[in-house]
Amino acid sequence: MSEIASSQEWKALEESAAELEGVSVRSLFDEDPARFGRYSIEAAGLFLDFSKNKITDDVLARLLALSKKADVEGARKRMFAGEPVNVTEARAVLHPALRDFAARTYHVGGEDVSRLVRAERDALAAFCASVHSGECRGYSGKPLDTIVNIGIGGSDLGPQMVVEALRPYWIDGRHAYFVSNIDGQHLADTLEKLDPERTLFIIASKTFTTDETLTNAMSAKSWFLANGGSEAAIAKHFVALSTNERAVTAFGIDPRNMFRFWDWVGGRYSLWSSIGLSIALQTGFDHFERLLRGAHAMDEHFRAAPLRENMPVMLALTGVWNRNFLGAAAHAILPYDQHLHRLPAYLQQADMESNGKRTGVDGAPVGAATGPVIFGEPGTNGQHAFYQLLHQGTDLISADFIAPAVSQSEMAPHHEKLLANFLAQTEALMRGRTEKEASDELAREGRPEAEISRLAPHKVFPGDRPSNSILMEKLTPETLGALIALYEHKIFCQGVIWGINSFDQWGVELGKALAKSILPELASLGEEKPPATAHDASTNGLINRINAARSGAAGKHSAGRK
Ligand code: F6P
Repeated sequence: MSEIASSQEWKALEESAAELEGVSVRSLFDEDPARFGRYSIEAAGLFLDFSKNKITDDVLARLLALSKKADVEGARKRMFAGEPVNVTEARAVLHPALRDFAARTYHVGGEDVSRLVRAERDALAAFCASVHSGECRGYSGKPLDTIVNIGIGGSDLGPQMVVEALRPYWIDGRHAYFVSNIDGQHLADTLEKLDPERTLFIIASKTFTTDETLTNAMSAKSWFLANGGSEAAIAKHFVALSTNERAVTAFGIDPRNMFRFWDWVGGRYSLWSSIGLSIALQTGFDHFERLLRGAHAMDEHFRAAPLRENMPVMLALTGVWNRNFLGAAAHAILPYDQHLHRLPAYLQQADMESNGKRTGVDGAPVGAATGPVIFGEPGTNGQHAFYQLLHQGTDLISADFIAPAVSQSEMAPHHEKLLANFLAQTEALMRGRTEKEASDELAREGRPEAEISRLAPHKVFPGDRPSNSILMEKLTPETLGALIALYEHKIFCQGVIWGINSFDQWGVELGKALAKSILPELASLGEEKPPATAHDASTNGLINRINAARSGAAGKHSAGRK
């Protein structure tokens, strides 16, 4: 077991959880309405209310002691100093350097990387300006008004989420598409909508070795060549975002059409780098810069604020409390803003790929629960889907509610109704409803006694379902940047407390390797394959069934789309 899970600080929190059994958050509010003021923090345009968690001053003091024990402050310092905190890959973790507009310099292995960051940002800005002004055009002279970002994971989820979130900031007449899945239908459905003469393909891959991205990029190139483009025109229609110049060149993209970033930018922390090109092209470089500035404001807060007043730290600590001491197995991300509809998917990667780990940095088992399952949907859609389980299910699920006070596109009475729902849900999750309240309500409705006793148990809500509320005045590039940075730092702090490396992702390797070995065993349409025997009975059986369907399918299904 890791040191932290056997520490005195950990044990003290276990005792707190036991002491609070039977104490409801509703009673904590009744006793102390001032807890809202005490358990909320404002920073970088965001307001965090964490008072609806089952916490007390004593619990917070013990959580802070735990963070001291784990040396969150030291780890924070080491990260910003460019030390190789990604220990298994021996890399620095310096995505904050990408959004630092202060005069500060950042060093990695003695090299000043701030200069590189500025130069690449300038190159990105110049490219955006030339596309927007029409100086940079397609091969036939038409403007490049459509972009297709081909990438996956961090090279897709971040930029796509931001582009969606900043929809009101889109430049008129511009179109943006994102293709990630190796399922050819994703690309085919997108290509159908494109005019090759107006399309810029952005091949986004940190490593430039990711099979999904390279396969999609290859097929996009073939489509371009088959639809009027020429080899000579590729330079005008394909750019690469990567750290791997050699692989970009081998793929056939001129390094002059490449925007770089560095191995100290993790894939899921890369939207601030040249990976953000789709954001800058779709919304304008000025808005991209505002996004970076918003994130920088959160970085400044995270660097300087004492732990108790530090928004990412307190979000992390309440998360650890719910996960490790109250037993929450999953955490819901619930944005009450339709434009944030990709935020849960984005945070799924950010959190689960970072903290879904069982081995500590020391190589020993962590011995405690680490990252929870992250899921979510925008409100109010989620309310009509999975909130039933949040309110009355047998598992404790914690949740973050995220809402702007003013909508990007106010349309009375929609936003007031949306906000009323957000507030009501957090209140209902916290307060719950006792059996007596349920019976009284049924009695007020004039229901007969027998029906009251039959229905009342079903109408009981246990309450004490923890939630945070994150408010902003409006969803802008700045508040969005701050929100993303808030989660990045929260995830970092939790990883430090659990003693894991939040910046590697060994868990994605095994499946990738097995897929490579299975690929040659799968039949092309119409092809006969010998029975698979190299795997377990289930995998062999599935391969054989698939091959039987594919070998007999040649006549029935063409390789085309119908
Ligand atoms: O899923 C594994 C992963 O390495 C992610 O961490 C990363 O965001 C994604 O693949 C894409 O990687 P790349 O940008 O190198 O293509």
